[in-house]
Amino acid sequence: MTLPPNFLDELRDRVTVSSVIGRKLKLERKGREFVSLCPFHNDSKPSLSIVDDKGFYHCFACGAHGDVIKFLTETEGLKFMEAVEQLASLAGMEVPKATPEEQARDERRRTLQEVVDLACRWYERQLRTSAGEAGLAYLRGRGLSEATIARFRLGWAPDDRKALQRAMKAEGVEVDTLVEAGLVKRYDEGDTLDYMRGRVLFPITDRRGRVIAFGGRVLGDGQPKYLNSPDTPLFHKGRVLYGLAQAREPAHKSGTLVVAEGYMDVIALDQAGVPAVAQLGTALTEDQIAALWRITPEPTICFDGDAAGQRAAQRACERALPMLTPGHSMRFMMLPEGQDPDDLIKREGVGGFRRVLVLAEPMADFLWATELAAAPADTPERRADFFKRIRERARAVADRTVQQAYADEIERRIDQMRRPPRERANRGGFTKGRWTPPPKPEPRGSRAARARVGTVLARRQQQIILATVIHHPGLLDELGEALAHLELGDPFLDKLRAEILEITDADPNLDADGLATHLKASGYTDTVNGLLGAEALAHAAFARSDAVFAEARAGLMELMARVGRPRLQEQLDEARRDAASDEASWNRLLGLQRALAAITAGTSLEDVS
Ligand code: UTP
Ligand code: MN
Repeated sequence: MTLPPNFLDELRDRVTVSSVIGRKLKLERKGREFVSLCPFHNDSKPSLSIVDDKGFYHCFACGAHGDVIKFLTETEGLKFMEAVEQLASLAGMEVPKATPEEQARDERRRTLQEVVDLACRWYERQLRTSAGEAGLAYLRGRGLSEATIARFRLGWAPDDRKALQRAMKAEGVEVDTLVEAGLVKRYDEGDTLDYMRGRVLFPITDRRGRVIAFGGRVLGDGQPKYLNSPDTPLFHKGRVLYGLAQAREPAHKSGTLVVAEGYMDVIALDQAGVPAVAQLGTALTEDQIAALWRITPEPTICFDGDAAGQRAAQRACERALPMLTPGHSMRFMMLPEGQDPDDLIKREGVGGFRRVLVLAEPMADFLWATELAAAPADTPERRADFFKRIRERARAVADRTVQQAYADEIERRIDQMRRPPRERANRGGFTKGRWTPPPKPEPRGSRAARARVGTVLARRQQQIILATVIHHPGLLDELGEALAHLELGDPFLDKLRAEILEITDADPNLDADGLATHLKASGYTDTVNGLLGAEALAHAAFARSDAVFAEARAGLMELMARVGRPRLQEQLDEARRDAASDEASWNRLLGLQRALAAITAGTSLEDVS
């Protein structure tokens, strides 16, 4: 049975964790908390901490963690409801009894679920018959292994009006039940038709892996491409995430959970070792966001780089913003336009996908970037309007602590945006063998170019570029000039870039520690810590401090080529048009050519002008 939503909260409020644990263990008060020897491992000094305010216990030695209910189920072997009964009697509360209607409904659901599972088994078998040959060939053709087909229980619905009904009748299942389970459709005139026909089937399960519905895909170009079961007592589209049961454990362990768009994306990612789920052709709902957070604190929303994908990501951000709690958020990753994860893996392997995954950006960055992209902030009035809008967005966060943290972050950024870029004294040129760019007038078309460079995807790449350089300043010998020409688009990162070049220019022999120290002394502590955070570089191994120089060089080359080459090329084209005018433009042209050549050395890209 299901308890009313507030019942457990009230129960947890009334019974403190310390009072329950205190019945079994000796507690010692420490400020607002209690400590005790941990009963979950062989503890020698008190490592179990009990926090009544927050309603949980936590062991710093073995990681045991939970609330009052968990404590009872774990230490006394009680079932969940038994623990609830016991606590309720302690608190003088009455556990609501299931009404006869509720009991009947639960019973009905159980039967429906059994029928859907029966159908699922039958569909799985059909994939192995001659009628299902085309379906099996299709799935194999899309690169799925036997293990994957079995893991996701993929099946085949024969192209036959009543095949399922006949098979289920032999099992003693009533047609009415099939209709209620969404497996059969009844027409007004009374005729009944199998719901799924001539499709490969993707069973949709609840969080525990029990099949509750199906998605079916046509083999060819028929319409609709995917057909989902109708909503039933078991299945509500907006509450379910496809692939949740399979992703749960690996996501919990690895901390990575990708939210993709389609069935095949989830399966391809899972097969490649990346835990993933998908919403079923709808916008992400609050139920789904809450379900994601029960598995991992920062799931990654993966979206296509086109306008529709952007909008979907923005909607997810808007939904999640009010729901944020300390530690819980989302990250956003943008795929190359027109490619879904399945395409990307097919084309570039899982490495290709992971390279984009590491560029996923935190929600605060995403929010700032999308709001800034919504309207130009290039006049005082427009800037003021932007400040107003972005502050308003942050007020949507319901949790006070998170809201304050967002407000702080936004004020910090606004502050930086207000500050004029530092004046550069020199006119550009080589000092001690290193190029310093001249202060240059805004080149034509650069605003549009900057908007492009400043896209979500590019900014994360830029962060990795800078992290790599900070960890391996020696790379600047070869790539310093290219970096000097590469406008990053993000004002903070651009300032940091200028600072790095300035510091290393003054002292070309500086090592990584020295550079980081200088940057922190110049007020970049947060930015540097953020950039170099282990998590930010989780998959960009080459950007980490322990990467060997050659690895760092190769990675940086590739990224600079990918991010910087189009931009440099564009600047070069502009410079060509201006080249005749004066010596400074001519020097700029040469510099740009050298920069392009430098980042193209060692990559396979052709046709450098
Ligand atoms: P897509 O059209 O992007 O398809 O739909 P896909 O996932 O890349 O599928 P393949 O690779 O061509 O097989 C994304 C998701 O939107 C829902 C499905 O959940 C699908 O996986 N959808 C799409 C529908 O529900 N009905 C449709 O007709 C199409
Ligand atoms: Mn696809």
